[in-house]
Amino acid sequence: MNKQIKKGMALSLLMAATWGGFSYAHSEHFTENTRTAKPSYDFRTATMSIYKWYLSPMGAMVKGKVPFDAKAFTEYAEGLKAISQMDLLEGFPKDSGEDHVDDSDAKEEIWANWDDFKHKYGTLQSEAKNLLAIAKAGDEKAIKAQFKKTAATCGSCHKKYKTK
Ligand code: HEC
Repeated sequence: MNKQIKKGMALSLLMAATWGGFSYAHSEHFTENTRTAKPSYDFRTATMSIYKWYLSPMGAMVKGKVPFDAKAFTEYAEGLKAISQMDLLEGFPKDSGEDHVDDSDAKEEIWANWDDFKHKYGTLQSEAKNLLAIAKAGDEKAIKAQFKKTAATCGSCHKKYKTK
């Protein structure tokens, strides 16, 4: 190893140590705020992106855009049920709506109608559970009907509580 490289390595180690110290102080501050607006927004939009990840391919089968595949459908229904059990409401603390977070589409009405919002989430959870049970039973017609019911729970909440 030549001297130049050694010097360079020492410098980057020093920089890493300094940066580490800085980010540690920073992360302490962050921890106090992990449940506030922006992280909550990240949590809920990430969770709902996963809903979409499972819902979209099932929708494509129901609409006939791709051939119906009962096994694949059941796997997607399994995924949706699992992620719907993860408490979405944790991602909606007070003061984390559109007036508080840039880019948020969460209407302030959510917190004025909290019981209704909670109920809408509960409906998604129970319909997703039913969808998995019906998918496992394998009757294509019943599966398609239950898919529509499940997808409608997303739309019903978005219509009232999401802008755009
Ligand atoms: C209880 C209400 C509720 C239910 C049920 C619900 N959503 Fe949402 N969803 C919202 C709200 C509110 C937002 C806006 C969040 C924000 O921008 O802060 C949103 C945002 C989204 C987004 C945009 C995420 C982003 O990156 O901006 C997607 C995608 C989404 N929902 C998909 C779904 C799907 C699919 C379902 C059903 C399986 C669903 N949601 C069920 C309330 C709900």
